[in-house]
Amino acid sequence: RAAVIVAIDGPSGTGKSSTSKAVATQLGLRYLDTGAQYRAITWWMVNNGIDMDDPSAIAAVAGKPEIVSGTDPSAPSITVDGTDVAGPIRTQEVTSKVSAVSAVPEVRTRITGLQRSIAAGAENGIVVEGRDIGTTVLPDADLKIFLTASPEARAARRNGELKGADVNATREALLKRDAADSSRKTSPLAKADDAVEVDTSDLTLQQVIECVVTLVEEKR
Ligand code: C5P
Repeated sequence: RAAVIVAIDGPSGTGKSSTSKAVATQLGLRYLDTGAQYRAITWWMVNNGIDMDDPSAIAAVAGKPEIVSGTDPSAPSITVDGTDVAGPIRTQEVTSKVSAVSAVPEVRTRITGLQRSIAAGAENGIVVEGRDIGTTVLPDADLKIFLTASPEARAARRNGELKGADVNATREALLKRDAADSSRKTSPLAKADDAVEVDTSDLTLQQVIECVVTLVEEKR
């Protein structure tokens, strides 16, 4: 059985992470959360006082932090220069700055290189989730999925994760980040021509997982 490469892209709050982890676990594949890598490099920039309004300042240090992703779907991990940053990369501050950092071409080149080498090293295959995996990072993936959902469904899901947050504020922040990610020049959030689009608004997580597992098995 050859290694199978699955690319799962889509905007925030569509269920990419939950779906990708479950599919990888069920099929015995590795798992890579590429958003966590962009968050990790953003965390490092914030920690080191890099001026987020200056793309050239970001570009100049894009190669500095060492980012290591653990690809076990039942225990994904991420470190920066040896420090576990799984918690700190989910703060409001990092979330509000990650789009600016990830729009810098030098950052994307660096992180894309890491992603390709991780995918190439996954013996049985891997599920890679992000924004530009099917279009740019792994254009030869065996299966490309593009997850969508209504803004209301997405905001409601995010709010379920962030206890006590205001749903309107969550929706606005989410739409703002998607607009930035979709409109950047270098590999924006986009559906690949050959991706299968799945609207998850009215599906349970279990239904989405089953749908993707079936699609992968058809490719194997
Ligand atoms: O998936 P998550 O919400 O954690 O991603 C955080 C951010 O990382 C996105 O809003 C986007 O700016 C960036 N990202 C990206 N390309 C990817 C994955 C994430 O630019 N493949």
